Amino acid sequence: MDNFEFFSPTRFVFGRGAESRTGELVRKYGGTKVLLHFGGGSVKANGVYDKVVAALTAADVAYVPLGGVQPNPRSGLVREGIALCRREKVDFVLAVGGGSVIDSAKAIAFGTLYDGDFADFYHGKDVKRPTPVPRALPIGTVLTIAAAGSEGSGNSVITLEPGEFKRAATGDALRPMFSILNPEFTFTLPAYQTACGATDMFAHVVERYFTTTRDVWVSDELCEGIMRTIVTASRRVLAAPQDYEARANLMWAGTLAHNNVCGAGRAQDWASHGIEHELSALYGCAHGAGLAVVMPAWMAYVKDADIGRVAQFAAKVFAVPEGDPAAMAQEGIARYRAWLHEIGMPTTFAELGAKREDIPALVAKLGLNGNTLGTFMSLTDADVIKILESCC
Ligand code: NZQ
Ligand code: ZN
Repeated sequence: MDNFEFFSPTRFVFGRGAESRTGELVRKYGGTKVLLHFGGGSVKANGVYDKVVAALTAADVAYVPLGGVQPNPRSGLVREGIALCRREKVDFVLAVGGGSVIDSAKAIAFGTLYDGDFADFYHGKDVKRPTPVPRALPIGTVLTIAAAGSEGSGNSVITLEPGEFKRAATGDALRPMFSILNPEFTFTLPAYQTACGATDMFAHVVERYFTTTRDVWVSDELCEGIMRTIVTASRRVLAAPQDYEARANLMWAGTLAHNNVCGAGRAQDWASHGIEHELSALYGCAHGAGLAVVMPAWMAYVKDADIGRVAQFAAKVFAVPEGDPAAMAQEGIARYRAWLHEIGMPTTFAELGAKREDIPALVAKLGLNGNTLGTFMSLTDADVIKILESCC
């Protein structure tokens, strides 16, 4: 196991009715006037917005609403939010929604306190490591979709305009002070979004599980258990969308998949995420759907870098019987793809609506510039092209 530092300061308040604590928690972390940030309207349609407003009002917390966050959130609304926070002297940013709303909220929270252009951090410019984002307004979240894990992560992913560059920023100041997780809020999710979420959280574990680090037994077991839980719970919630226990397990799995408890002390890969972000930036597809296409193709391409690890994945996650490691690995990848299909995910370019002729542009935008991507196997531009071609 490698040396590591694990920092996950977010207070998680989980369960039915947890949103009633929102106002009290904003106050606890010093907020008196919040930016109430939300997406395209699902939280108004399903009553979540009204419940959050009631909790803020009960705690005498003022709020300024800013809706309209699109899936794969964009820099334009972030800039609007920064101007609004400064004008209204907002002292807390509250995201009510999914990963897109939370990521937009995080960008606004540090952009408000930053003298330069918030996009600097996403372009990787002027980044002072190890704390690239020096400070931000405090952030809270009320999660409505189990997926990205942003409610417990120190990351934010924004599509920068013009140019549609989808880029990530990382920093401890981006970690929410609190996240409210009421599984009932996910009952209204369309099946497709539920499946995209399950696919994304599964991918967050795979990015950590496919490691070159040896003897990471405890995080291997955590990874395997979380992946099995995601497969089981996704099947149950798709069959019965109001199955509270399955929704609850899926929601907590999504947080654990990405708060880095699974990644501590081990090399992580993240090539599939890098490649996928170019797909969702170009086509506007859901991030989970893009991963359903990219990740099994990536796994098939890199498997020989450590066939034993892929065979272990096959055995522990998809119950492939012990045998020849190469055959086990192949069967594991086939079962992974079959699960994705079963829950309604695309696994090819055609099913996603992506085009083979766009591959050179996708790889150019990834911008490796002679560097490599990933750690399980270091990928060059030529490797990424082959992976994407294998999706066609
Ligand atoms: O916009 P609204 O109307 O709210 O509708 C949303 C949106 O259309 C809908 N939805 C959310 N909760 C709902 C609901 N519909 C009905 N009932 C509910 N309870 O679902 C759609 C997708 O929402 P979105 O927030 O985009 O989903 P997700 O949580 O998957 O977030 C995706 C974004 O997160 C980024 C992705 O790249 C993508 O931009 N990621 C962020 C990460 C992070 N910050 O740590 C890590 C991830 O790897 C990922 O890259
Ligand atoms: Zn993801």
